Amino acid sequence: MANNLDYSNIWELYGLKADPFTTDALVVYGGILPIECFIGRKNELQRLNKQFRSGSSRVLVIGDVGVGKTSFVNFSRSLAIKGGYFSHLKEIGVMGNWYTNEFIINTLQAIYSALTLESKESLISEDSFKKLKSIVDFYNYEKGLRGISVAGFGLEYGSDRFSPPIMIPTNSLMELATKIVKEIHNKTGKDVILHYNNLENLKEMDIRRLFEDLRDFFQMPHTHFVFVGNLITNGIIQGSQRVSSIFSDSIMINEMTFEEIEEVINKRLELLKIENLNLVKPFDKSALDKLYNLYGGNIRNILNSLKEAILASVINNPIILTDEDIARTLRQLVEERHFKILVEKERQILRYMANKEEITNKSLATGTNTAQSNVSKYLKHLQNLGYVEVKRKSGKDKFWTVAPKIKWVLLKEPKQKHIVKYMPPKI
Ligand SMILES: Nc1ncnc2c1ncn2[C@@H]1O[C@H](COP(=O)(O)OP(=O)(O)OP(=O)(O)O)[C@@H](O)[C@H]1O
Ligand SMILES: [Mg+2]
Repeated sequence: MANNLDYSNIWELYGLKADPFTTDALVVYGGILPIECFIGRKNELQRLNKQFRSGSSRVLVIGDVGVGKTSFVNFSRSLAIKGGYFSHLKEIGVMGNWYTNEFIINTLQAIYSALTLESKESLISEDSFKKLKSIVDFYNYEKGLRGISVAGFGLEYGSDRFSPPIMIPTNSLMELATKIVKEIHNKTGKDVILHYNNLENLKEMDIRRLFEDLRDFFQMPHTHFVFVGNLITNGIIQGSQRVSSIFSDSIMINEMTFEEIEEVINKRLELLKIENLNLVKPFDKSALDKLYNLYGGNIRNILNSLKEAILASVINNPIILTDEDIARTLRQLVEERHFKILVEKERQILRYMANKEEITNKSLATGTNTAQSNVSKYLKHLQNLGYVEVKRKSGKDKFWTVAPKIKWVLLKEPKQKHIVKYMPPKI
C-alpha cells in the first residue's frame, strides 16, 4: 500500500553518516564513534594514571547520572592498554542480584573474553586457561538453567535473586583469579585493570557486604580495580568508614564546560561527515547555550534534547535550530506527549518539581498545597510513567526529582528579537 511518508535518512540531510547525538558510552575499541572522540578531563586522567602506576589500587569514580563516567574510565583503559596493560573490552556491568561469587566469576569471564577475542590465550598457563574456561562455561550453563526454572515457576525476571549462589568455594575462585593475574604480569611485566560499572545497581546492604567479603580479592597484587557509581553509591560508601578505607582514591567526574561540549559535538560531526557532501551543523550556538543552562552541563541530557528537537522539526530540509526553535519545539513536545495525559494537580506538581533540584514529599505537599497522602499517590503515578524518580535517600526521607525530559517545560522562548523592517525600494 502506498503511503506518503518520507523514508530518507534525516542525518543524510545534514551530510552525516549517522546520528551525531548518540548517548552510548564510548567503548575501549570504539563503536560507531571511535574512542578518540573523548575530550578533556586532563586532571582526572592523570590521577587515574597515577593509581595505575602504583602497583595495585582500588579507585572509585563517581558523578551524577550521564556526566561521562563510563566513557572516562574506558578512555583511561584504552590509553593504559596502548601502554601494555591488560584489560577487558566491555566494562563489567554490576547487577543487583550478584553474590560474592558472581562478582569474581564475572571478572573471570571478562578476562576470558579479552584473552580469547584478542587471541592472547598464551598469556596464561594451559592449566589456568582450562580452569578458567570450565568455570565460565559452567556459569553460563547454570545461568541458562536458572532462567528456565525461574520461568517454569512463573516467577518474574529478576527474582532469581533468591536462587542459590553458585556452589564453587569463593576461595578457589579467588585463588584462580590471583594466579591468572600473576601469570599475565609475569608475561607482560604490566598490571591488570578491571572496570566495574554501575555500582548503583546494588542495594546499600549489598555494597557493604560485597566490600567486606571481597576485601582480600580487592588487595590482589598487580591489579587495579576501578568502580563506577553515581551520587547515591558515593553516599553509601562514604557513610561507612570500613568500606571507604578500602579505596586508594575517589575521583569525581563533574559536568563538562560549554566549550568542551561544543568540542565533543564538533568532533563527532567531523568524524561522521559524508565525503563529497556539504556538512550542515544542525544547531547554532544559542541553541546549545539554552540546553547547557537548562541541564547545568549534563552532556547526556543535552545530546538527547538536541536529537529530539531535530527529529520533531525536520521534514525534508536540514533545519538549523536556534534557541527559539529549541524552546518552542521541546515545550510543545513535553506538553503534548506527557502533560496532556495528566490531571491538573499532577501537572501542577510536575511544574513545581521541575524548578527544584530535588524535593521531599513533605516540601512538595506544602509547596503545592496538597495533602501529603495525595502527593504520595500522585508521585507513585508519575513514577510509574517515568516522569519522576528518587534521586537520593537520607534516613526515611526520599528526595525526588523530575526526569530530564520533563525539564523542557522550563524552556522559555526568548523575547522577540528586534526585526528590521525593509521598505520596498522606490523604483
Ligand atoms: N569526555 C568526553 N568526551 C566525549 N564524549 C563524552 C565525554 N564524556 C561523555 N561523553 C559522551 O556523553 C555520553 C554520556 O557518557 P557516559 O555514558 O560515559 O556517562 P555516564 O556518566 O557513564 O552515564 P550513566 O550515569 O548513565 O552511567 C556518551 O554519549 C559519551 O560518548
Ligand atoms: Mg555509565
